[in-house]
Amino acid sequence: MLNSKLQIKTFDPHKATEADFVAMNKFGNRMQAEYWPEDPPRSVEQTIRAWRSIPPYIEEHVWTVWSANTIVALGSAEISRTQDNQHMTWFEIEVLPEYRRQSIAKHLLKLIAEVAQREKRRLMMSFTDSAIPAGAAFMKRLEARPGMESRTNQLNLADLDRTLLHEWQSEAPTDEFALGLWDSPYPEAEIDAIAEMKSAIVSSMPHDNLELEDRKFTKEELRQREQSLVEQKMERWTLYAKHRATGELAGYTEVFWESFQPETLRQGDTGVYPKYRNKGLGRWLKAAMIDKVLRERPQVKRIRTGNANSNAPMLKINCEMGFKPYKNWTTWQIELEKVLKYLEKSEKSSASPVGSRK
Ligand SMILES: CC(C)(COP(=O)(O)OP(=O)(O)OC[C@H]1O[C@@H](n2cnc3c(N)ncnc32)[C@H](O)[C@@H]1OP(=O)(O)O)[C@@H](O)C(=O)NCCC(=O)NCCS
Repeated sequence: MLNSKLQIKTFDPHKATEADFVAMNKFGNRMQAEYWPEDPPRSVEQTIRAWRSIPPYIEEHVWTVWSANTIVALGSAEISRTQDNQHMTWFEIEVLPEYRRQSIAKHLLKLIAEVAQREKRRLMMSFTDSAIPAGAAFMKRLEARPGMESRTNQLNLADLDRTLLHEWQSEAPTDEFALGLWDSPYPEAEIDAIAEMKSAIVSSMPHDNLELEDRKFTKEELRQREQSLVEQKMERWTLYAKHRATGELAGYTEVFWESFQPETLRQGDTGVYPKYRNKGLGRWLKAAMIDKVLRERPQVKRIRTGNANSNAPMLKINCEMGFKPYKNWTTWQIELEKVLKYLEKSEKSSASPVGSRK
């Protein structure tokens, strides 16, 4: 049974009060200090912007667990209204260290599973940080299966091999391809081709044993994501390569920067269409982007990116540039049916039923 001093409440970012966000910000910063101990805390404004900018195609169900005026745990289920992957839901549960092992996660899991059941999502996925062993222990207790190992790689710009950067650019296939930049919303005339390229490239990234379908980005989804970036005050630069002879898009790399965290740049996707691979485009795109960052964003001290451990081609380029392993992650998957059985068994063995939603 949930400790009687605790209360579970739904959290709606569009109805939450300033006081709710202050509590959410404190909770988020406690968790961030555990995941990313080197990072500065986030401001309340950032917290509000992050929660309120979730694109409408993502239906986020969120619960917070309160002890008086403090949020001590959070659970969420993400139902994406996309054309693909309608069989699954992402979920997240976070409990402050001093409140762990009190069945709080189990209570939140029940609410998450109810959403998955209602939405007919047969599979649930989540990820854990290897620096917080409690996450993997919890997943193993549920009998979830690890589906993919990945890591955050980080490049300290002080360690960057600048000679290599110039070499890659001087060896680039400039007669066959040209680079271009999108630093504002994608041009309307190219949005369908961009959606097609992103779908092909994201789908070709390794996801090991995760039961994920190919992504099919739509123009509407891309526009909603762009609006979300604007609301978060996040700037995106996309460098793309075009095949000169046909005018076709061949590949792209994207980075995200926010003035709230000016020293850390996030490297997003980098990808080249299979037929244009092994021509040095990946290296060229990455090198040209970093060159631009060095020239135009002198505040940036480090670049972070996430890669599946099995993504040999991307890791090779990143390692050569000086990216170093920074954090390890496991992505887990578990059938909804299994979660329901676990919860049922737990309820039977506990004195009182699980669930005290308000
Ligand atoms: C993982 C996490 C959410 C668990 O929260 P919690 O409230 O301590 O979990 P509960 O008390 O509800 O435990 C549920 C079950 O997992 C088991 N469990 C939880 N943490 C465990 C640990 N560190 N070692 C062994 N078993 C553990 C419990 O014993 C319980 O098993 P039971 O069914 O036999 O009773 C919490 O440790 C956390 O916030 N970790 C960081 C974020 C994270 O990794 N989240 C997981 C991804 S969503």
